[in-house]
Amino acid sequence: MLRIEKMAEKNVLMESEIPFLKLFKKGKVREVYEIGDYLLIVATDRLSAFDVVMKTGIPDKGVYLTKQSSYWFKFIEEKGYKTHFMTDDIDKIVEITGEKRLLDLEWLKGRVMLGKKAEVIPVEAVCRFRLYGSAVTAIETDTWIWDPIETEGELKAGAMIKNGPAFTPTEKSETDDKISFDQMVEIIGDPDLAKKIKSETIDLFRICNQHAVEKLGFEIADGKVEYGIIDGELSLIDETFTSDSARFLPDKSKEVFRKWLTDNNIKKVSVEIPEDISMMVSDLYKSQCSDMGVL
Ligand SMILES: Nc1ncnc2c1ncn2[C@@H]1O[C@H](COP(=O)(O)OP(=O)(O)OP(=O)(O)O)[C@@H](O)[C@H]1O
Ligand SMILES: [Mg+2]
Repeated sequence: MLRIEKMAEKNVLMESEIPFLKLFKKGKVREVYEIGDYLLIVATDRLSAFDVVMKTGIPDKGVYLTKQSSYWFKFIEEKGYKTHFMTDDIDKIVEITGEKRLLDLEWLKGRVMLGKKAEVIPVEAVCRFRLYGSAVTAIETDTWIWDPIETEGELKAGAMIKNGPAFTPTEKSETDDKISFDQMVEIIGDPDLAKKIKSETIDLFRICNQHAVEKLGFEIADGKVEYGIIDGELSLIDETFTSDSARFLPDKSKEVFRKWLTDNNIKKVSVEIPEDISMMVSDLYKSQCSDMGVL
């Protein structure tokens, strides 16, 4: 059901509905519709943190995420990697799919991307240049299950990993539990493919971080990408280096919201986001777009 709410007099898309398309998947943040071999990926304004979707959303978040993701997909394609990305231009989407009715959906503008349908590999390829969040916990609790690391300076939140990034995958499940490389091989069932995912992810993070530092003025501290198989080839899918899926330095990511939850002792429950916090997150995501020159 189409659900548009108000926050600080702005529209917030909490749920999309495209009655003439088949819903392929409803994720925590995005609704994915099927058009033949293509997927129409609609980014709503929902916000999830610690695997829980909040009761209210963030104005224009879906638009900002789509801009960030599209920028990186185009950049990554230029570097010769395969991705699912086709276009985020609504006119091109209509041209490719022949689905003119999309033009009537005013609320859809700026928050939609066309991708190729993939056979999803159920692993989140996480990489880290710096130690934050669960990575710090893993070190502190002696449950670091990946390649051993050394840090520059003291081993604490924000510490830079020597010869980074470190590849620290997780399961693609409700809880996104961390998995060792051997567990990843077991899940995928193909050691060579697992090795390829690891090395491609590390290369990709290096190339994108270098670009971010040299051309955009921020670091990618950590992040996750997802892969699928399209026409027999390993391809990047989902979203890439967005404020939802990565941490930056200076940080303009979801981390600020996670911090607000933690500071207020809100754990694993869905809450209404106060208007000032919602606008702060919206402004931060927007500012990340400005830094990238996509706004
Ligand atoms: N090219 C693609 N082919 C198939 N599925 C895709 C593709 N790109 C993205 N997806 C899937 O679409 C969903 C996007 O929605 P969203 O990111 O909101 O979900 P999520 O809640 O993070 O993930 P999940 O529902 O898998 O836990 C994800 O499940 C993602 O794996
Ligand atoms: Mg996701």
